[in-house]
Amino acid sequence: HRINIAIDGPAGAGKSTVARLVAKALQYIYVDTGAMYRAVTLKALESGIATDDSEMVGRLAYDLDIALLPGAESQQVWVNGEDVSDKLRSHEINRNVSYVARIESVRNRMSELQRLMAEEKGVVMDGRDIGTHVLPNAELKVFLTATPRERASRRFLELGPDAGISLDQLEQEIAERDRLDQEREIAPLVQAADARLIDSTGLTIEQVAEEIVRWSLEKAGT
Ligand code: C5P
Repeated sequence: HRINIAIDGPAGAGKSTVARLVAKALQYIYVDTGAMYRAVTLKALESGIATDDSEMVGRLAYDLDIALLPGAESQQVWVNGEDVSDKLRSHEINRNVSYVARIESVRNRMSELQRLMAEEKGVVMDGRDIGTHVLPNAELKVFLTATPRERASRRFLELGPDAGISLDQLEQEIAERDRLDQEREIAPLVQAADARLIDSTGLTIEQVAEEIVRWSLEKAGT
């Protein structure tokens, strides 16, 4: 039978790539919840709303029509009928998203949408609070991490030298985002008590994905 898989962890641990590979292997649906917080952040910035204005950003989160479409390479994100997928990875969004993600009403709305997507099972969902809050009954929970340096290096290689950001800057940006995510009051980034920990430092993404697929098949078989 089909199960739900929650993959949580800090920024740059490889969650989205791993989750996509696992979903592909199992023919499940991949849901990147970070993209939803990024989409709200994009719209707040575009509308000139301060990203720490809880009331305005909260209202915006409820008004937006956010749709995730599974794509071949990565998930497409549509907001109010516009494909915003290519706009979600900017430094400006990286720097602002954790402020948006601290807002309770934003989290409530995103969690509600995420639970709906997982209702039919067969979902691999990656984020920060999936195993702890969004899908506490997920049959398999993984907490994926790696050293801060390793996570920054991976992002650096992904972006390329032309991105105009140094490895040190990236490491700082990631560390700051982790700090905000870990210290927030609502649904902070923390390993669920029943999550399996994988430290991916020194492992390939494929090795990590294979391990998770193996665990999933064990769980689904029982
Ligand atoms: O996964 P990604 O790096 O795209 O997530 C961007 C940000 O969105 C995180 O740093 C975090 O602040 C927020 N987020 C969250 N809860 C999730 C997914 C993402 O708070 N489930």
